[in-house]
Amino acid sequence: MKIGIVRETAPGERRVAVIPETVKKLTAKKFEFLFEPGAGMGSSFPDDEYTAAGAKISMDVWSEADTIAKVQKPAPEEVAKLREGGALVSTLYPLFNPDLVKALAARKVMAISLDMIPRTTLAQSMDVLSSQANLAGYYAVVYGASRLPKIFPMLMTAAGTITPAKVLVMGAGVAGLQAIGTAKRLGAVVEATDVRPETKEQVESLGGRFLQVTGVEVKTGQGGYAAEQSEEYKKKQAEMIAGAISKADVVITTALIPGRRAPILVTDAHLKSMRPGSVVVDLAAEQGGNVEGCVAGQDAEKHGVKICGLVNVPSAVAAHASMCFSRNIEKLLVHVTKDGAWNINLDEEITKGCVIAREGEIVQAKVKEAVK
Ligand code: NAI
Repeated sequence: MKIGIVRETAPGERRVAVIPETVKKLTAKKFEFLFEPGAGMGSSFPDDEYTAAGAKISMDVWSEADTIAKVQKPAPEEVAKLREGGALVSTLYPLFNPDLVKALAARKVMAISLDMIPRTTLAQSMDVLSSQANLAGYYAVVYGASRLPKIFPMLMTAAGTITPAKVLVMGAGVAGLQAIGTAKRLGAVVEATDVRPETKEQVESLGGRFLQVTGVEVKTGQGGYAAEQSEEYKKKQAEMIAGAISKADVVITTALIPGRRAPILVTDAHLKSMRPGSVVVDLAAEQGGNVEGCVAGQDAEKHGVKICGLVNVPSAVAAHASMCFSRNIEKLLVHVTKDGAWNINLDEEITKGCVIAREGEIVQAKVKEAVK
């Protein structure tokens, strides 16, 4: 199998899907690699490292490779360049991009959507959503800290004691837990909340204080994800967090319900209660935002509080994000191939989840339904 590593064309995207380390490992397992000049430059992987790892430079990767590896879904002109009967490994978000799915099926491309890999223990090493969210959780804290007119740790100085910053993390999934750990390491006092009661132990093990809504039924979701909660729950949650928000210097929101608009957790009244100069970092900005008034891709200000609607955070830490992404792809490729050739078993859970189109057909059940 010849895998093509292409330059990402989406605005602001600095990551690359495959790094030299993966080229070297998979070349030893009968894979071949071609790369577009400069494909890894945005993430600090120069061409000579790809060549040294065994990849060949090519001015025409799209037609020379039989499989294209990408970070972001292809643009329509890129779909047109895909080799008919070839394969594409990328994030595609097929439930939100039915036209793209149809176009890939029409081109008879085998489309593997990395974001559809199930969140199971076995698939953990291939899970790009988790690997990227983990880095986003870290970055959200660093970003928030850099906009706060305070420092995070407690300091005893000759000029007196500085008390530690207070950080509130809402949503303790992959990004949230990394945010808690990072804020703690920087010396902040951390509180966190989540609708899934099982996250209490995880929050506490990182040194955070868990804020739990009590006295109301909690709806549970599937596959480790949250479910939309009742109006009564939302009201109780808003009341419970009001106290913590008003005292927080930095609030980081990461609450996600798959396939839905992000729930609003921080209201205008909450923002009003915060001290001027405080910072709210909304990681869910691209899904509509957890914060009232959040604008995706912008730092806004309301009642003196900065609201940062971060988008494509992994690209900001492109070197490590690409490294994790590439390692995820490597594990997946090993899983779905044998001796460097495809070995697709659509009855197997991981393959069934992420192979969305093959031989001109849409084969993934949920995607088929969504495209209909
Ligand atoms: P996740 O599913 O692991 O975590 C989300 C958490 O939010 C879950 O623990 C869930 O129980 C919790 N949650 C859902 N509704 C809630 C509510 N009403 N109140 C409190 N908690 C609630 O998701 P992950 O991977 O950590 O991603 C988190 C968010 O960050 C997502 O919106 C994701 O799209 C976003 N993200 C954004 C990036 C960016 O570049 N801006 C990069 C990576 C992730």
